[in-house]
Amino acid sequence: MSVKTHNKTKLVPVNRSVALLPERDAKVSPILECIDLGVTFGGLKAVDNFDITIGRTEIAGLIGPNGAGKTTAFNVITGVYAPTNGRVRFNEECIVRNHPTGKMKKQYKGEHADMYTARFAPEEELGDEALKAWKEGQKALDSYAFTDHVLAPTPDKITALGMARTFQNIRLWKTQTVFDNVLIAKHCRRSANLLSATFRLNADEEKRQREECENLLHVLGLEDVRNELATGLPYGLQRRVEIARALATEPELLLMDEPYGQLDIELRFKLEDELIKLWEMTKTTVIFITHNIEEAVYLGNRIMILTNKPTTVKRTVNNTLPRPRDIASPDFVSLRTEVTDAIKWW
Ligand SMILES: Nc1ncnc2c1ncn2[C@@H]1O[C@H](COP(=O)(O)OP(=O)(O)OP(=O)(O)O)[C@@H](O)[C@H]1O
Ligand SMILES: [Mg+2]
Repeated sequence: MSVKTHNKTKLVPVNRSVALLPERDAKVSPILECIDLGVTFGGLKAVDNFDITIGRTEIAGLIGPNGAGKTTAFNVITGVYAPTNGRVRFNEECIVRNHPTGKMKKQYKGEHADMYTARFAPEEELGDEALKAWKEGQKALDSYAFTDHVLAPTPDKITALGMARTFQNIRLWKTQTVFDNVLIAKHCRRSANLLSATFRLNADEEKRQREECENLLHVLGLEDVRNELATGLPYGLQRRVEIARALATEPELLLMDEPYGQLDIELRFKLEDELIKLWEMTKTTVIFITHNIEEAVYLGNRIMILTNKPTTVKRTVNNTLPRPRDIASPDFVSLRTEVTDAIKWW
């Protein structure tokens, strides 16, 4: 069996005046909570009772069968799809919430189900005062009750909140260079408005952001290809550009959907090591999806094993193996066997 080496990567620690990412505060509360998340496409339940809580600075792996609903869960968390049930909380704020309408209301079985049934009224007839009190009680349960407020933040708003993702199939801007792909992502952190942009009042900010992007390219070993078209690069470099672009948005949470799925084994080892180094440098919380048990055990502090359609967490395995991890060590092999057994037998 091959043993991974840990000295191959070109990642360079940052000692420049411009920091890679802002300092993280040391809050201990969870960064992400999915509460009873459910997604139904017509008659197909892709995600059901999906409850996960991700701690700050964690690196968590999701592993589950093809078509289980993993990407769908990511799509809900990042605002691409609205959930049929449940909600997503990010930094203790509810950012995505079901808003069932029509027949969907009847299917809803999440928290505060009464809010979403067709019969959104008290059981018995109430006088004015009692009705007022009842409504206040409902609002205390859910501040959006009676407001018709639809919480459906778009992916750009979610990115601005501090969440970024990489895609199962790489999606870079085709006509842009590597540097521009990263710089465009950085623009979500720009404070300029029409006036300041017209009179070039934001020149300092622009300069700083360009430096930060150069810094990211430096760290990810992309300096030499900074002026090349991103989609013309070899696959491994495109993966790095995707990561650089995601980090340019200064995320607190990075969601990676099968980041190394189609890579040859050597490149996969290398990019996995790079991810760990980046994670150690930035302490950005990471959730990654993978089909590779070895990769899950190599990267994750926690591995969540998902059921097939609808996807739900069936087992969680904690991984406290010290880093750098040796895939040939008895502890590693034993944990890999534990995850394999959990997938096969649970
Ligand atoms: N927009 C959609 N409309 C209808 N069905 C969908 C849609 N998106 C996903 N599905 C279905 O939901 C199920 C889960 O798909 P999803 O892509 O989330 O699986 P996955 O776990 O990411 O699989 P894989 O490991 O192959 O990437 C599949 O049966 C898929 O066909
Ligand atoms: Mg998928």
